[in-house]
Amino acid sequence: MKKRVIVIGGGPGGYVAAIRAAQLGADVCLIEKDKTGGTCLNRGCIPTKALLHSVELYQAMKNGASSGILAENLRIDWTIVQRRKQTIVRRLVNGVDGLLKANGVKVYKGSARILNKNAVEFCGLQKETLTADYIILAVGSEPALIKIPGADLPQVINSTFALDLKQIPQSLVIIGGGVIGMEFAALYGAIGTSVTIVEMMPEILPGIDKELAAALKKELADEGISILTNTKVNEISSAGDGVVVSIDSGGDTRQLSAEYVLVAVGRRAAISSVGLEQVEIAVENGKIKTNEDFQTNISNIYAIGDCNGKCMLAHAASAQGIAAAEHALGHQAIYMGNIVPACIYTNPELAAVGMTEEQAKQSGQEYKVGKFPLAGNGKALIENNGTGFIKIIAGAKYGEILGVHILGPRATDLIAEAALAIRLEATVDELVSTIHAHPTISEAMAEAALAVNNMAVHWPPQKL
Ligand code: NAI
Repeated sequence: MKKRVIVIGGGPGGYVAAIRAAQLGADVCLIEKDKTGGTCLNRGCIPTKALLHSVELYQAMKNGASSGILAENLRIDWTIVQRRKQTIVRRLVNGVDGLLKANGVKVYKGSARILNKNAVEFCGLQKETLTADYIILAVGSEPALIKIPGADLPQVINSTFALDLKQIPQSLVIIGGGVIGMEFAALYGAIGTSVTIVEMMPEILPGIDKELAAALKKELADEGISILTNTKVNEISSAGDGVVVSIDSGGDTRQLSAEYVLVAVGRRAAISSVGLEQVEIAVENGKIKTNEDFQTNISNIYAIGDCNGKCMLAHAASAQGIAAAEHALGHQAIYMGNIVPACIYTNPELAAVGMTEEQAKQSGQEYKVGKFPLAGNGKALIENNGTGFIKIIAGAKYGEILGVHILGPRATDLIAEAALAIRLEATVDELVSTIHAHPTISEAMAEAALAVNNMAVHWPPQKL
């Protein structure tokens, strides 16, 4: 008899879990109240990167004179930029629908509510009770709100709205210097919007190696983006068509005028309407509590992706979805939650995997650091004038790679090699003896590994 699996939520966690469960022979239905693809495809990763791609093209042409590209009357048609973004999103959503169908997953369009540990009420065009051996919750997250006067003004927007602006704003204040804040600052800052980021902590980009966060901050500041740290927002008030944002930097109060305020202060699990209380699923700090196999306290109910709050990244959600489906259906699942690459699509890009230097220090273990500036790499010089660097953290005794941090062109693609190296417990010597093609930016990875022992070839030895 086939096992029955219900997946609630069709984002990169849920649809991947559904496909894997179907591949493993289960009878699977997936319930999704909106479009399949979730936040990532519809209002997150994909649309942002589609917009960023257009903006990068524009920037490249605008700054193309030194490469011999002389463009006259260069301008952005924002309507076409937005249309292209929508076309890409639509293609991918259709692709996901096609994959679900091809794998025999039954998709129910409507909302789901748990009735008991083996039953879910589906409410779409009709109401139906669906039963299952296993339920996988993949209900995602939504933008967190801030509680300050004026937060409900129409000019105060979240990332979903910021993706769909009909016109390029003249000015934008971004509250929160996290990943969303940085990506939108890079996006609009590059096409003429006057952008100010207000971050309450002393540093931007929580969780990112401090040296790289500081280097990226400098790059963005050089592009004209104003980044105010140790600063909080007291109040937002209406002023004509825009708003005035009252900020406080250690007692020094100021007002910033802006057309819009983007609130990017994190995301929270979207778990309020799925019926967790029906079976008393444990929740901790607003997120569904799970064990390492993603089982909730009700062992046949799993929670994956943003709603369990372990790692709010699409690729982590997909990996958790695969692991949960495999575990439920009696297979051995592997999820390596300590090796999840993080990618930030600014210009230059930032990507990281494994330990930051701060974490290595805190762990008490002996470590070494190798750094290689991309100014010493021919391909990086060609692509972005050699801005950025690669930093590798390795164990002092055996040289095992603990963390890799990249600021530079193609960082988000290069990080895959680093993730695999850490996954395979590779040492810096093994990275060095892996021949990297020339000319590529990946050569800088081997150089950074060489730099761990002060042996970089294309950079002078450092005086120790
Ligand atoms: P985040 O957690 O990355 O950063 C939020 C920032 O806001 C923090 O620096 C925090 O100190 C600051 N903050 C909080 N309250 C504040 C206040 N009242 N005033 C000023 N600053 C305040 O959250 P973010 O950027 O909203 O992203 C949400 C999630 O989405 C994250 O988990 C992120 O990793 C994920 N994401 C990932 C992307 C990627 O992988 N490229 C792209 C976009 C989002």
